[in-house]
Amino acid sequence: MSDMSTIAHQPIYLKNYRAPHYLIDDINLSVDLFDDFAMVRSSLRVRANKHHETDLILNGEGLELISIHLEGRELTSNEYEVTDQLLIVRHVPANFQLDIVTKIYPKKNTALSGLYYANTSGTYCTQCEAEGFRHITYYLDHPDVLAKFTTTITADKKYPHLLSNGNLTASGELPNNRHFATWEDPFKKPCYLFALVAGDFDLIESQFTTQSNHEVALRIYVEKGLADQATHAMDSLKRAMRWDEGTFGREYDLDIYMIVAIGDFNMGAMENKGLNIFNTKYVLAKPETATDDDYINILSVIGHEYFHNWSGNRVTCRDWFQLSLKEGLTIFRDQSFTEDELSHAVMRIHDVRALRETQFPEDAGPLAHPVRPDAYIEINNFYTATVYNKGAEVLRMLQTILGKTTFRKGMDLYFSRHDGHAVTIEDFVKIMEDVSGLNLAQFRLWYTQAGTPRVEVTDHYDDITETYTLHFTQTCPPTPHQAHKKPMTIPIKMGLLDQSGQAMPLVLHQKMQGLEHTLLLTEEKQEVVFQHVTTKPTPSLLRHFSAPIILHYPYTDEALRFLFQHDLDAFNRWECGQQYSMRQLLQLTQSIEKGNALQMNEGWLAIYADLLMREAKEATVDLFFLSEMLALPSEKYIGEQMQTIAVDNIHAARVFARLEIAKKFADVFYQHYQANHTHTEKYKFDMKLIGQRQFKNSCLAYLMLLPNYAELGMTQFKAALKHNMTDTQVALAGLNQLDSPLREEALRAFYETYRHDALVVDKWLAIQASCYLPNALSQIKALYKHPAFDIKNPNKVYALIGAFGRNPTVFHQKNGEGYLFLADVVRELDQLNPQIAARMVNPLTQWRRYDAARQALMRERLEALLHTSLSSDVFELVSKSLEEK
Ligand code: TRP
Ligand code: ZN
Repeated sequence: MSDMSTIAHQPIYLKNYRAPHYLIDDINLSVDLFDDFAMVRSSLRVRANKHHETDLILNGEGLELISIHLEGRELTSNEYEVTDQLLIVRHVPANFQLDIVTKIYPKKNTALSGLYYANTSGTYCTQCEAEGFRHITYYLDHPDVLAKFTTTITADKKYPHLLSNGNLTASGELPNNRHFATWEDPFKKPCYLFALVAGDFDLIESQFTTQSNHEVALRIYVEKGLADQATHAMDSLKRAMRWDEGTFGREYDLDIYMIVAIGDFNMGAMENKGLNIFNTKYVLAKPETATDDDYINILSVIGHEYFHNWSGNRVTCRDWFQLSLKEGLTIFRDQSFTEDELSHAVMRIHDVRALRETQFPEDAGPLAHPVRPDAYIEINNFYTATVYNKGAEVLRMLQTILGKTTFRKGMDLYFSRHDGHAVTIEDFVKIMEDVSGLNLAQFRLWYTQAGTPRVEVTDHYDDITETYTLHFTQTCPPTPHQAHKKPMTIPIKMGLLDQSGQAMPLVLHQKMQGLEHTLLLTEEKQEVVFQHVTTKPTPSLLRHFSAPIILHYPYTDEALRFLFQHDLDAFNRWECGQQYSMRQLLQLTQSIEKGNALQMNEGWLAIYADLLMREAKEATVDLFFLSEMLALPSEKYIGEQMQTIAVDNIHAARVFARLEIAKKFADVFYQHYQANHTHTEKYKFDMKLIGQRQFKNSCLAYLMLLPNYAELGMTQFKAALKHNMTDTQVALAGLNQLDSPLREEALRAFYETYRHDALVVDKWLAIQASCYLPNALSQIKALYKHPAFDIKNPNKVYALIGAFGRNPTVFHQKNGEGYLFLADVVRELDQLNPQIAARMVNPLTQWRRYDAARQALMRERLEALLHTSLSSDVFELVSKSLEEK
């Protein structure tokens, strides 16, 4: 690696945190938008914070400094210094007014951080988290500097809507066909929560009366002509507002809540105070263009950003190492919300699946970091599954350990004690100690130790003493810079089943504990003895996935099937099915490796028989849940179980198993398909109908593996096109894997129908990028040149390149062509949008998990990348992935 690049990319350390030397109490910002540039005038009220230093150091990048005045006097060039990242003003007093004018070029901003012009939407907008504000003006761009913002926007009237945070206080006409609007945000906030929008929109309006009778105007701004696609988002917002009042007692605090949907956006959405900016993907929905999953995701992301108003905005982070303070907490809140609103079992399954497929690999790889990292080169790289999803799991554990009532008390105290402040994860944990009286010293390790803990469980039943003993052993693998781990606090929610499948009363220390109990592991090795256990039980462990760990208990196949049928905990029923399937899939993979004949295990088929012939026919069946039960573990998750990921064999094993299941149950699948399929039913976002659609489509997906049923898929595709995207997409995804003219026909019809709808074109790209037919890579390369693809649009990149990177056999094809293509794309993208380039490079960083030949090819690409000039975003990931272990 060249010295140059290492020197240019210096890490920031948590241990070096210092309180700011200066504070800004007020900022008066005026942004004048012109066709080719913007003028930004910033008036700051600055004051020394305790220790008075004489130099004021402001952040600023890519700015043209026009003028700078201190207390009204223009500074001469020897009174300040400008570097490519800072503005240093020499010898400033303890309290003063600073006026800075900068010129910026929003239309040249392809990184989509700071103020930029969103081409797809034809609007100006901002993205300031984490460090975008310094691309707008010189400022103390740190989350612990909280100021009151007043913002004036001026622009041509072709941008009729001029929006910013807080309340509109003035607006009017200006000469030259221009106009202005002034917004005042009464709440002090860090600059990462600043937002500004100028554009031409349609909007839908509604209102919400809070529990203390405060009227809030709700507005959702979307591209002209798309107002009919914002109703689900509006409904989701009201559900979130109601839920947060009922569950956490949190009420909204301004008179207006605005959401703007933007077509070019790096992430999902942003919680700017009073003015959320959303990726269109998480706002727009109508039956003919959005799937059930899209509807669910909108509910959860709208909830997420809304919940940030308290967990993030009213109480914010002291520094970016504390990111999980707001993100882990807000994910925890949005997960609880969708579990309550939709389904406890199914949403938990979705969340755990995502955790295992993204966070566990991260924790086991070269980029592993604690929930509270202690160093970073580029903060954008730390918006990770660990900070978000593992962070949420940590809070879920805390709630389990403290109990809901005490946890809620802690939340109330957290919000009242720290309202208006920028605080730390430590402050949060301290409060939970205060309200519970517990010592959480060991629990804090969840924030500082990386790696996924492993818990091995064995047991012993003694029929003479009628005792049942569980032995637990916990370990946590080494991760970068953390060779040795201490034992952690791990809550294991559990129950015992007798031979008839009934829950057994749990007696510990001669005390009755009910039918379900949460054990708290704290030691490396630990034993728990249950008394008055009259027959040998089957343990049901880690119910509802009570801790983010890998738990292993040596179940027999029979025991897994038994729990799969009888466990009271729906999550664990699913989990036992997954474990059973995993065993079989790993065996099939080995058989392929050894060149043995493949055979389906009878017990496995019996599970499917039971689901399809018995459970599916019960009156009380939950079809949404059932469709989850029918799905096999993904190739990704299977690979995670192996030391060296056998890409092709995993794929072949899974294809074989699915085909055998389809053959064996074709008739039943077809009956269920018919019984739950309706051409005429109008789409509704309703749990019962979602369940029916999901279940029916699971049946169809199996059927479409059989040549005789390809036509059935085509029929559903044609009937659903223009009416129901859930049905359309499943049919198209099935056809997409067929080497048949039907594939071409459907893809063409889909594109012709939806070529003008950007979000649906994204689906078209992603589906083709998930194809595993032999010529898939050349098709993906052709799509990269297709007019429908646009490398400057993050959604297009996520759709095509993101899906390609998750397509195991195509990305990892043996000749290394997949690696080469991805590296080329990353290099091109890095010049335009480093944040997105960094997200795309991820699959290459996992190189150590593959066979020697693939390792060599992947490494070669990473090393070649490192010899080019890289953004700090991509540099950090690539260089860390190559570090010696
Ligand atoms: N805070 C946002 C959230 O709700 C995340 C986010 C949006 C973000 N845009 C970003 C993070 C850009 C980094 C860069 O999760
Ligand atoms: Zn968030």
